[in-house]
Amino acid sequence: MREIFQDLGKKIEQRLDKENLDLAQISFEELEVFTLKVNLSEFETELSSLLINQDLEKQVNLYNNFGQPPITLFNNNHFVIDIYFWLHHDTSIHDHSFEGSFKVLFGSSLHETFNISFEKNYEKDIAKTKISKKSSEYLYQGHIKKITRGQSFTHRLIHLEAPTITLCIRSINDIKHKQWHHFSNGLSIEKKEINESTLKKFYYSEYLFLRNHENAQVFLNQLIQENSSSENMNFYEQLMTQALPFSEVFIEVFHQTLLHTYQKRDWFEDYQSFYKNLEERHLNLESDSPILRLIEHGYNTNLSKEEIRALLSSYKSYKPTLDDLELIESFS
Ligand SMILES: [Fe+2]
Repeated sequence: MREIFQDLGKKIEQRLDKENLDLAQISFEELEVFTLKVNLSEFETELSSLLINQDLEKQVNLYNNFGQPPITLFNNNHFVIDIYFWLHHDTSIHDHSFEGSFKVLFGSSLHETFNISFEKNYEKDIAKTKISKKSSEYLYQGHIKKITRGQSFTHRLIHLEAPTITLCIRSINDIKHKQWHHFSNGLSIEKKEINESTLKKFYYSEYLFLRNHENAQVFLNQLIQENSSSENMNFYEQLMTQALPFSEVFIEVFHQTLLHTYQKRDWFEDYQSFYKNLEERHLNLESDSPILRLIEHGYNTNLSKEEIRALLSSYKSYKPTLDDLELIESFS
């Protein structure tokens, strides 16, 4: 199976050299003709055998939870071909610092795009924005989407089947462009990958807390001051989603230090109120059923009952059951 992805990568490499087209366009065209002639369990068997028998390319997305897991199958230091396995995590509203395309290999997702207008910058990497939904569509097996850089392509994917598996061809090492993560209440924080150096400083800080609490606290305060706010917030989000192996004791210390550092800033109030609202009014049906995931998403994003029913009826021509309708009716 590895050859299929290596051949795809080489073909795109050659076209990028010869043609005056960007990676988004070329990868989109190549994904249109790319097919895997296997079913899900055959795909898993072939991938298992690849992973046992061969070393992988240099991996990207090592320190975050984008894809469960993300696996890189081609990497030429300019672009990668990744496979993402989605089991339960809904991705946030975000744009991209990179370009490329993705294709649904198995499963299905609800794909929403958004208009974003920036109202003011709290800090250079934290902003207040207005978000409105632009479009909503289902992506089924074989569907392809182009990823372009910047605000014009801001999206969210609600993965409906478990697993939903996507193939993504994307540029790497894009340092010129910002990538934003938008909270639905209008808070936007720049998305930052935690670099290896920063991560090591946090690990060292965790060690120091086992040695001498006072010295460790001084070190952590300095580290937080030295980092940008978005770096600290991205690290915090990863701690909270258990994407990094830090101890509970350290997570609590970091949480308290973050509170102390940012509690007087306007944007931090928005951040806290976002999660407070989520706690108070968040439906989690903990289900692998696409229909229940849709109902949950409709409720959590404040769709009307009619809109939720319409969402269900347009998923694979589904006919809502009495149970579905009763559940929707029970929402206040
Ligand atoms: Fe995305």
